[in-house]
This record gives sequence, C-alpha cells and structure tokens, in this order.
Amino acid sequence: MSSSAAHVEGAVDYSTKIPNNVGLADDARVLKALEQWHPGYIDWWMTMGPDGFQTSDVYLRTAISIDPKGWAKFDYVKMPEYRWGILLAPQENERKVNFGAFKGEKAWQEVPGEHRASLRRLVVIQGDTEPASVEQQRHLGKTAPSLYDMRNLFQVNVEEGRHLWAMVYLLHKYFGKDGREEAEGLLQRRSGDVDKPRMLGAFNEATPDWLSFFMFTFFTDRDGKMQLESLAQSGFDPLSRTCRFMLTEEAHHMFVGETGVGRVIERTCAAMKAAGVEDPYDIAKVRALGVIDLPTLQKKANLHFSLSLDLFGSEVSTNAANFYNAGLKGRFMETKIDDDHALTSATYPVLKFIDGQIRMVDEPALTALNMRLRDDYVKDCQGGVSRWNKLIEKAGIKFALTLPSVAFNRHIGEFKDVKASPDGKLLTEAEWAKLQHQWLPSTDDGAFVASLMTPCWDAGKYAGWISAPKVGIDSKPGDFEFVKVHQG
Ligand SMILES: [Fe+2]
Ligand SMILES: [Fe+2]
Repeated sequence: MSSSAAHVEGAVDYSTKIPNNVGLADDARVLKALEQWHPGYIDWWMTMGPDGFQTSDVYLRTAISIDPKGWAKFDYVKMPEYRWGILLAPQENERKVNFGAFKGEKAWQEVPGEHRASLRRLVVIQGDTEPASVEQQRHLGKTAPSLYDMRNLFQVNVEEGRHLWAMVYLLHKYFGKDGREEAEGLLQRRSGDVDKPRMLGAFNEATPDWLSFFMFTFFTDRDGKMQLESLAQSGFDPLSRTCRFMLTEEAHHMFVGETGVGRVIERTCAAMKAAGVEDPYDIAKVRALGVIDLPTLQKKANLHFSLSLDLFGSEVSTNAANFYNAGLKGRFMETKIDDDHALTSATYPVLKFIDGQIRMVDEPALTALNMRLRDDYVKDCQGGVSRWNKLIEKAGIKFALTLPSVAFNRHIGEFKDVKASPDGKLLTEAEWAKLQHQWLPSTDDGAFVASLMTPCWDAGKYAGWISAPKVGIDSKPGDFEFVKVHQG
C-alpha cells in the first residue's frame, strides 16, 4: 500500500503530471500510457481549443478534492496550463449491480469479459462528445458579451477537456490495445469534418453565436447530464464513479445555459418596457432596440431541443435493452425507482408513428429505455423553460416559451421521415417548406443575432443584448476582471 495522497479519501495527488485520485503514481503502465497521450491532447487543445486566448489569464475553478462541498479552488490560470485531472467519486462500500440480469452481484471493479465491446462503445460515444463541444465553441471568445461570460465559456471548455481525460483514463486502464486506439481516435475526429466527423449529429452542428452557446449548454449539455446519470448507475464501478464526479461539473454548464438565456430574456423585456413596445411579435420594433426578440428565442429553442432529442437514439432500441440487461447503463434515478429493476414484464408508453398517425402505444419497458430517458430529459427541460417564462411574466409581457412536440424537426427515431409542426400536427412536405422558417431560425434571424455579437471586454460591462448576472462567480463583484485577455 502506497502512502501517496491519492489514497487519502477525497484528496487529489498532484505529484504526477496528471492530477488524480486513482493512485496513478503506483500504476506505472497506465501513467505511462496517459503521459504518452498527453502531448497529443495538448496539441489538440492548442489547435482546436479556444481560438486566440491561450495566453490569457482566466479565473477558473480547478478540482482539488472530490469532497462535494469543497472541491473547487479558484485562481487565474492560462488554459493550456489547466491541471486536467482524473477524478472519480469515492468508492461506495458494498456497492452492488442495481439492475438487469446481474442485479445483486457485487459491482464490478474490472470489465466483465462478455460486456467488453458494449462498455467500450458506451465510453467512446460519451468521450467523443466532450472534445466536440470545445471544437464547436472555439470561436466564441472573440465575441464574448462580457468577461464574466467569457470566463464561463472557458470554464465549460476546460471541463469538457477534463471529461475527455476521464473517458480516456477508462480506455487506457481497462481496455488494453483497443482502448489505446480509441483514445487516439478521440483526438483525430473533428466536429463538422466531412471525412472524420464526431460520432453524434448535434456535435457536428455549428455554434455560431452566444445565443446558440447558451441554448447548447441548456439543451445539449442536459442530454449529457442524462447520459451521465444513466452511466453513473452502471454496474461497472469505475464508470459509475467517473460519471458521478463529472455530474458535479456538468451542473455548472447547465447553470451557464439557463442563466444565459434568462439574462437575454430579462434584457429584451427591459428594453421593450423602456421603449413602450408591448407586442412581442413586433419583431422589427424589438430588434431596433438592439435586443433579441422573444419569437427568435423560441425558434432557437425549437432547433436546439429537437437536435438534442435526436441524441437519445431510437425510442425503441434493442441496444438500450442489452445495455440495461447487462447492467451497464441504467435509468435516470434507477435506485429510487420502485420496481423490479429487471423489467422482464413491464411496459412503457411510447409515442410512435403508426398508420399515418402519431399514437401512444405500450412497448416492453426494456426496449423503451431510450424513450424513458428522453421523457425524463423533457421534464428536466420543462423546469428551465418554466423559470424563463416567469421572467417574461414578471416583466408583464404576454408571451410564453414552449417546448415543441417531440415529432418536430427530427432526424432520428420514429419521426425522422415525417414533418410535423411544433404543436405536433403532421404536415406535407410542401407545407413544411412554406412554414419551417416560422419555427426554425432563418438566415435572416442568424444574421440579426450575428450583428449583435460585438465583443464587450471591459470589466463590469455587458453587451446591450444581455443583462448582467445577479452575482459574479466565486462571489466576486460584477466588475471583477474574470479574464485578463492580454491581446494586442
Ligand atoms: Fe462533459
Ligand atoms: Fe458539459
């Protein structure tokens, strides 16, 4: 038994190049593999990470412990020098496999041979999303609406980088040669690349402006949260522990999204009131105020919500059933659900496209697990949308944001071959072609939002289309210099 700090509950060992609480100092093989992977990662970060800010001092939080109450330390850091570490939530004594065919067995500390390929696939798919979002967001620093927002963007970026490390650790530690090859592949694919795209659709879309960024962190990072929640249930204990710690970071990403959109709403409403504009649909008048009209926010939400729904895969899926049965990927809040956790005879209602109609039918619960996770996701989204609507209501403006039908603008699953309106009415191709720009951002909408994206980098100042946050990060005052940019 080593006396390295990694073995003290919650403490992180900084004596190796890669901070960790997994005893890397005593694991020469994995340490070496990761040290060999490290230069490629830094290369990737320098070429695909935040463009133009690699020498800036950013007020970032770094994990120094896994204690839920005190894991973050804030300080100025240059991003390439961020201590990307491998941090697992504490091992729970006597943890069991809590669902599927192996329910009741002791949780696995090694990969069960027969599930090796499935597990590797789950780890690689999760891992691929992490660098993808950094790539998608790499140009946004230049148009940051404040130093506060710029700092939040970079915090999200370095943590997505750390999430990549988290998955790469699992690949190196538990999957031998194929694991090493997959870890390489994660540095080779690129978001939006024609030849080597990232694995999932939403992670190949552009994030052209800050409104897209806030919508992405609200809707798409929330898909990430749901996936991590279900992997945190895994019977493979190292994956569970990894995901549990990632979730503590993910919460901040969704905070950035929800408060980001919320501040856009507040600013728009305030500008409308000050100018005496009552009709939220008088788009020209609202835009003339230099703020983003609420109908455009609705269109952006429609787009990001529908893209994110596609990430849940087909509603009915034998893969999902197999992952569950094998004890690899559970349901959201699995251990809180009151049932047999085997789903051998249970059913679950699934919205399907049958005989030209959208209908709810009961499917075996085991194959409907993607649908169930997506339902949990929609509920989680709805909470945030309701909080946004409270802001609009408080301002006395007659408008409410809504989540579109799950049949709207889909490219995967039951509704991929049909056209539907946001309220779930089926449309002909011709109707869709005529109406889609009432529901999805048009080129003009994109150009208008882009026209507002001028940098605002004076400490304590905010671009005209977004309100200041209620409080700074780490209880810092609003005029705190969250990023020392140091540019020409
Ligand atoms: Fe992540
Ligand atoms: Fe995230």
